[in-house]
Amino acid sequence: MPEFQNIVILTGAGVSAESGLATFRGPDGLWEGHRVEDVCTPEALARDAALVHRFYDERRARLAEVRPNAAHEALARLDAEWRGELLIVTQNVDDLHERAGAGAATDAGDGAGRVLHMHGALQSALCARCGERRPWAESLPTGRICPACAAPALRPDIVFFGEIPYEMDRIERALADVDLFVSIGTSGAVYPAAGFVRTARHHGAHTVELNLDPSAGSFLFHESRMGAASELVPAFVAQLLGG
Ligand code: APR
Repeated sequence: MPEFQNIVILTGAGVSAESGLATFRGPDGLWEGHRVEDVCTPEALARDAALVHRFYDERRARLAEVRPNAAHEALARLDAEWRGELLIVTQNVDDLHERAGAGAATDAGDGAGRVLHMHGALQSALCARCGERRPWAESLPTGRICPACAAPALRPDIVFFGEIPYEMDRIERALADVDLFVSIGTSGAVYPAAGFVRTARHHGAHTVELNLDPSAGSFLFHESRMGAASELVPAFVAQLLGG
């Protein structure tokens, strides 16, 4: 493998599948039992907030029943040992990257860690009125008061379809300097994440996909390795770290 300095990794639901969390698309996918428009849009929240809150309450509670798998652990190893720049951008709203040990705040820079949840997090609540985000571990009924602005407006801190993902500036900055872009366990169906491979290529990066099946943009990657994340990711990380 050539020498790399700056790495951006994009992860999706496939990285958590072997921990027992359902992916979105496919026969047993999370969306099979729900229409996306019923649980993951601003309109759904306005129409039936109780349903939306319940859906995310169930998923938040499920986190207590699952554990990180070998793919999360390998990425945590990369975070601990990689000396160059690294940003792990996850579309996942679970906390399995962090529970494996990735994403701790670094001393350098603004204290931000190397894991970024672009689609929000189950264990966070967002005030729909003032925009304040706060850690949230319990169930989140509708109408909970925001401690910052006192509006009864706390909602799941999930980026719904039609909303802008978090920290796009930081992601774009990382992609502008990237020399290795790796996409893991994502179908490439949802933008803007699905477009990161093009941006990375535009900036001259080598691009690698690790996935169970070829993603929608598979042809955009220099290398595609097909298989289970729990096997592919540890092997790939070992290769990057030289053993
Ligand atoms: N190892 C590797 N890849 C896997 C595994 C596995 N064990 N199991 C499934 N996959 C792959 C599938 O082949 C599929 O390509 O993971 C991908 C999961 O795709 P999606 O279910 O579409 O999930 P994701 O790409 O993360 O979805 C993106 O869409 O619904 C929204 O906001 C939601 O963040 C989500 C976004």
